[in-house]
Amino acid sequence: PARYRTVHLQKAKDEGRHFAMLTAYDFQMAKVFDDAGIETILVGDSAANTMMGHDTTLPITLDEMIVYAGSVVRGTRHAMVLCDLPFGSYELSPQQATESAIRLVKEAGVHAVKMEGGVRYAEHVRMMTDAGVPVMAHIGFTPQSENVLGGYRVQGRTEGAAEAMAQEATVLQDAGAFAVLMEMVPADIARQVDEALRVPTVGIGAGPSTTGQVLVWQDMLGLRTGKMPRFVKQYADLHSVISAAVTDYRREVLEGTFPTAEHGFES
Ligand code: KIV
Ligand code: NA
Repeated sequence: PARYRTVHLQKAKDEGRHFAMLTAYDFQMAKVFDDAGIETILVGDSAANTMMGHDTTLPITLDEMIVYAGSVVRGTRHAMVLCDLPFGSYELSPQQATESAIRLVKEAGVHAVKMEGGVRYAEHVRMMTDAGVPVMAHIGFTPQSENVLGGYRVQGRTEGAAEAMAQEATVLQDAGAFAVLMEMVPADIARQVDEALRVPTVGIGAGPSTTGQVLVWQDMLGLRTGKMPRFVKQYADLHSVISAAVTDYRREVLEGTFPTAEHGFES
């Protein structure tokens, strides 16, 4: 399609197909992913980690998200661009959430927003959707609440968790959420939640049954080094590729073999 919309994601769910989502934070990477056919791009608040070097997602501001999101939107022609509502930009009221969502649409041009949190945010979802901003709900492990949740942990491992999570997701769906993302949820639970919902699901560390999958690009392309979460599959080793190229460049500059005549101008 000219531009992926919520209806296309719904159609994937209805027809038992999957779709792919990747994070992006800038114009150039968004363009690469868009050209490759990625259906949905998430301007995640993981930008706090991947772009700004923070330890958590908590410090990034709505103004900062707007800068990243605008850059991503300008790099896309086909992908649907979603942006996270960052910590502190929505919790206080449906009004606060809607004002923030409207800023993301107006100032960055995003097509939808994603918001962490369960049943207590149903009214937020309702007001944003009524205002014209599609909302993807994010449940399971929600990094903005890591201080309450006790760190990075798989969610939904307690007795009755499948029913509770399906119930939570259904409330958000019925409040108008066009999709529900699950992070670090056991695969069998995520499957049950997906089956309970009419709307599409997206998973990260949630097994193969969700409608869509999402990964952070610096993880899946191997730009980031160090210990990776279990759910990351590395499809490339950009750190090595870039490191080798930069090392070559530096060596040639120091040796004086770059630049040569072909890279220069004659008088
Ligand atoms: O911020 C982010 O990148 C996310 C995804 C990992 C789901 O929320
Ligand atoms: Na996020």
